[in-house]
Amino acid sequence: MMTTAVTARAHTNIALVKYWGKADATLMLPQTSSLSLTLDQFYTDTTVVFDPTLTADQITVNQVLLDEHASRKVRHVLDLVRAQAGIQTFAHVNSANHVPMAAGLASSASAFAALAGAASRAAGLDLSARDLSRLARRGSGSATRSIYGGFVEWHAGHDDASSYAEPLVDPVTWPIAMVALVLDAHRKKVSSRQGMQSSVTTSPYYPAWKQVVARDLAAIKPAILDQDFTTVGEILETNAMRMHALTLSADPAYSYFNGATLQAMQTVRELRATGIACYYTLDAGPNLKVFCQVADLPAITARFRQDLGAEQVIVAHPGPGLSWRS
Ligand code: DP6
Repeated sequence: MMTTAVTARAHTNIALVKYWGKADATLMLPQTSSLSLTLDQFYTDTTVVFDPTLTADQITVNQVLLDEHASRKVRHVLDLVRAQAGIQTFAHVNSANHVPMAAGLASSASAFAALAGAASRAAGLDLSARDLSRLARRGSGSATRSIYGGFVEWHAGHDDASSYAEPLVDPVTWPIAMVALVLDAHRKKVSSRQGMQSSVTTSPYYPAWKQVVARDLAAIKPAILDQDFTTVGEILETNAMRMHALTLSADPAYSYFNGATLQAMQTVRELRATGIACYYTLDAGPNLKVFCQVADLPAITARFRQDLGAEQVIVAHPGPGLSWRS
């Protein structure tokens, strides 16, 4: 019986070509492939120990014990690990999200990647990175990519075995950064899970989105390898806007933007007009992330710190993949 505590750390990632829709909600297979950049600033540390004295899984996140409902995705991943390891033992899971206070930035990617790493090893499994990525996928789609550092592609695949992520460039030597703007720290009203489901089933533009993603992926990969900043920036910004067009075109329509989001988008365009190259992207929430070159960080951060306040502007760089600590 395994009773060793294992701790794993995974960083969050920001998609440059977004995942927005499932083809299979049980296996968590996406409608399209996607591509992201893992970030150094935001990460989750998770410790798992399988304990034969437990009569149920005990899951604590940031020192708060989760109830049945809140812990169901975590227990689902633990069940998959138990099935693979051939054990029935329940586990203590202790997770700490290191996302700057009230940043309102997504943590499910880093959380489920760290859980996959810690739970599999604590159960005595020695999974390959590809299999860890497949396991993380079952908790949250974006977690599939957080197993790796740098630029990462998640291949949509057509079944459990063929849907996994792979690094494109890791580690990244290109001097680029992602400036996270905290525009609203509250919990999102429409979860990504509900939002993407409603886009797939009700937006008449969904078929066009699939074509957009195929084109954007084909174009962004060589641009990343060439370190072609302008092409990568243009693709990530149009891709994000086209993903958000799926929320506006859903029935009922909704939006993750707020007034500050639109204002910050305008500021990015103004910075560009003055010759400072930068491009924005955003996920299922109002907080913009600004892609830029390291040399332009002083000008960009100065402008946003003046508009928003120093604490609301967080500079992130390319980050590493999953790691374990003893
Ligand atoms: C907008 O991975 O949070 O961030 O698979 O239902 O857990 P589930 O959704 P999640 O969705 C991420 C959506 C996104 C785009 C992306 O990360 O590719």
